[in-house]
Amino acid sequence: MSIQSERKIFGHLQVVLPFLVTGCAGRQSALDPAGQEAAEVYHLSVVMVIGGGIIWLTVIGLLTHACRRRRSAWSEEGAGRLIAWGGVAFPVIVLFALLVYTIWLMPSIRPWLGRAVAEPDRIQVIGEQFWWRVRYPAEEGVAGFETANEIRLPVGERVVFSLRADDVIHSFWIPSLGGKMDMIPGRTNVLSLLPTKTGVFRAPCAEFCGVSHAYMAFSVVVMERDAFDDWRRKQASGNRPEGSKGERLFTHHGCVGCHSVRGTTPIAGLGPDLTHFADRSTVGAGTLANTRKNIERFIRDPSAIKPGAKMPAFDMVPPGDIAAISGYLAGLR
Ligand code: CUA
Repeated sequence: MSIQSERKIFGHLQVVLPFLVTGCAGRQSALDPAGQEAAEVYHLSVVMVIGGGIIWLTVIGLLTHACRRRRSAWSEEGAGRLIAWGGVAFPVIVLFALLVYTIWLMPSIRPWLGRAVAEPDRIQVIGEQFWWRVRYPAEEGVAGFETANEIRLPVGERVVFSLRADDVIHSFWIPSLGGKMDMIPGRTNVLSLLPTKTGVFRAPCAEFCGVSHAYMAFSVVVMERDAFDDWRRKQASGNRPEGSKGERLFTHHGCVGCHSVRGTTPIAGLGPDLTHFADRSTVGAGTLANTRKNIERFIRDPSAIKPGAKMPAFDMVPPGDIAAISGYLAGLR
């Protein structure tokens, strides 16, 4: 390889490497763990990468040595020894060591085994096409409630999820905290996680579930216990905003047939609960930023943003009414 082409490659690497490295951090990265299970998985990956790297370098070293060595015949005994050590003993030892390590790791990745939390005390998450229904259990005098597309958790406390699906198979995965676990219609899977850092994380659906699979995500907000308790109390007590034109139109145009604003509208369970919708960061389960303009876009034609969404288009509603409804939703703090 000429010096020029080596310089060229090095130049490209200098441009690409910072992007590769910064790609490891962030709110949706298994390489930047913020939970105990994610940390265990991360350590396993590091061990595998380093081990794989050492083996790769050894093989390349042997290959280079073999290419440079002067050709001469091997004795039958020497060749047999090479095969026995390099082809049998070495892989057996390495694979056995990895097996022991992963078996030792398993209990800390699935710590709920043998430590059952009763079903009523778990957070229930139900996969829908293409959003997430979330039900919090009652706790310490605070009633249970339903919300959607956002999960909030107290930092440093183990939580247990009951995972189900209503229509097709989805998969629950919060890369920064751990996981993943399939959500299968007709059965309940259990997953436990221990968040260790506060922050906001993104969780994508991890099983192809239809045309908008890539537009099905939720946010995870890990908070201090006090802030979490305040949020929980606020959620449980519903929302009664000042009567507005938008609120009247929300009922008039039939939005209440599918969406609940607990405390204001009758309970309707078909679409996502919107009680404190303005506190969420996204519209359409992780698809758009939660702004008034985006809420209007979504109401006018959900399928244009999220193909296959079950919510029908409301493009027959006058733009002024859509703007008023979007203003009402943006005020649901
Ligand atoms: Cu739900 Cu993919």
